[in-house]
Amino acid sequence: MVQMLDGASYDGRSAAVVRGLPGRYYTDPAIFEEEKQKIFFRTWQCLGHVAMLPEKGSFIVASVVDQEIAILRGEDDIPRAFFNICRHRGHPLLEGRGVARRIVCPYHAWTYDASGQLRNAPHTAGIAGFDASTIRLKSVRLEIFMGLLFVNLDDNAPPVAVQFGAVEAEIRAIRPNLEDQRLVFEYPMVHACNWKASVEGFSECYHCAPVHKYLVDNVVDPTTYVLTVEGPVQRHRLQSRDGTMSQVLWHLWPNLAIGFYPIPGVGSVLCTRHMYPRTVGESIYHYRWFADPGMDVDAIVRYAQHHATTTGKEDAEVVIQVQRGMTSRGFDSSLLIANPAKGDSTEHAIAAFHVQVLSALGHAPDGRMR
Ligand code: FES
Ligand SMILES: [Fe+2]
Repeated sequence: MVQMLDGASYDGRSAAVVRGLPGRYYTDPAIFEEEKQKIFFRTWQCLGHVAMLPEKGSFIVASVVDQEIAILRGEDDIPRAFFNICRHRGHPLLEGRGVARRIVCPYHAWTYDASGQLRNAPHTAGIAGFDASTIRLKSVRLEIFMGLLFVNLDDNAPPVAVQFGAVEAEIRAIRPNLEDQRLVFEYPMVHACNWKASVEGFSECYHCAPVHKYLVDNVVDPTTYVLTVEGPVQRHRLQSRDGTMSQVLWHLWPNLAIGFYPIPGVGSVLCTRHMYPRTVGESIYHYRWFADPGMDVDAIVRYAQHHATTTGKEDAEVVIQVQRGMTSRGFDSSLLIANPAKGDSTEHAIAAFHVQVLSALGHAPDGRMR
């Protein structure tokens, strides 16, 4: 039995085959543009952690699809987010990460302070109507939630706690001091695939046995996998191979995962993953690993580096290949094996994710425009 992709026709509990999104959702630039406008420019997007802004003037530059955002800690110690462009003629201002008490535009040297206020614009004295005190970098909404830096390009979106509040207590039950975590290792892995293929790779462990041999033989026991979905939240829980620790992961719509990894000799280590879309056929799968105060940083870094060259690399390889396959004229849509009772082999979270995508886009369940 193949069911249509439709929240009404699949109950989310039974064992069934569910038809996934049509292939064009992974390859069509027009759909990607629509996702940009209706998903990524309307939801809270996590661009990092407060640990990345340790002092006054600290900044990071990151992107929400094609919109470059700078987040700076001001002279008043308050982090703020701005579009990373000069108010004069739009030259980008900052790059990467660092500390800037003053931001000098490379083009005509307009100079801003770390709170985004224009302080100096050469040769403007006496120009009628020019008042530097009225010019600031254009701000973007920023909220710090669970220690993470969230921005939202939609001025009318509800606060971030409305989007993610349901999971805060669960996450803080494991790590109350989320704000005190130290970022110790990160790597942006290029996934030459649509962002949804990256999310889908996270959303099931059906591929764990064939793809992640090291992981299932040494780290976790997939037969203990429990995967539940509640609206925009996926919850993943499984036991370490020796049965002494749990691995717990949340995937939060649309493109953020937060997890605690059982690292032998260290304990439960916080790791975030972001599936940042870049183009219709490329996303950046960005891992960040954090140490709780007192943890063995070297051991975490060793584990994370090993993860990058095993599980992380293996995931990148399969999603790149599946993107290649989805461009084939022979690909219609996925046939998702939904079997929530068997956490190590169910794809029901992908079916739920597809319903979220269609709902956000306002498309009918079979992928046609409503
Ligand atoms: S564009 Fe920045 S000073 Fe001219
Ligand atoms: Fe994987």
